[in-house]
Amino acid sequence: MEIVVCKTKEEASKLAAAMITDAVKKNPKIVLGLATGSTPVMMYGEMAKAVKAKKVSYKQVKSWNLDEYVGLPGTHDQSYRYFMNENLFKKIDIKLSNTHVLNGMAKDPEKECKAYEAQIKKAGGIDIQVLGIGSDGHIAFNEPGTSLNSRTSVVYLTPSTIKDNARLFFKGKEKDVPTRALSMGVGTICEAKKIILLAFGKGKADAIKGCVEGGMSQFCTASALQAHNDAWIFCDEDAASKLKLKEYYRWRSATKLGK
Ligand code: PGA
Repeated sequence: MEIVVCKTKEEASKLAAAMITDAVKKNPKIVLGLATGSTPVMMYGEMAKAVKAKKVSYKQVKSWNLDEYVGLPGTHDQSYRYFMNENLFKKIDIKLSNTHVLNGMAKDPEKECKAYEAQIKKAGGIDIQVLGIGSDGHIAFNEPGTSLNSRTSVVYLTPSTIKDNARLFFKGKEKDVPTRALSMGVGTICEAKKIILLAFGKGKADAIKGCVEGGMSQFCTASALQAHNDAWIFCDEDAASKLKLKEYYRWRSATKLGK
């Protein structure tokens, strides 16, 4: 695990976006795993700037997103399909037909999940997976108590996730947040060749502490990344504030990145 401690979320977003831009330049047919939430928005903005400046093209890139709420169609303004279209896909030159988000309206959700895994496999697997982290340490919607080997499936949101998501989205109304989602599993996520996790703000400090310096545990599903050999954690000072070896990580990653 490489922990990149940045002064600001702007700096972290730029570094992470540069890592993705460089990878797409090297492999124009790269397969990306993408995430929703407030955290990656700035990074997506930086990726879009690189496209606008004609530094990179996503014309041949394929993407698979982490999760989607059960019961929301892609046209719903709180669905993750809608979020991706607005915050990234419309701003870069990716073909919409090359972007994939689980169908929250699927009649047979488990079948949908199995088919999604098969699609990813057929595409050769995910080259770079983008992740946020929940304040409870979840990745995608893999809440505490989820097996670290889990596969894409129907999952149940914790009250704390429902509260977090209502605060940022759903106009603050907890009762409107769906209680179930379709989500890539922890095991599925860990099969990505490279992982980029972003975390900003004091509200993520405990989750980052658990992810990086806690034991590997299903109580903090992000801790599964400890067993991944190319996982990058980009955080700001606040999210990194509880890390015991913060200064060591800062120096090590700066040296590796030539900062
Ligand atoms: P956030 O969500 O980026 O909106 O904080 C992250 C997550 O729950 O994975």
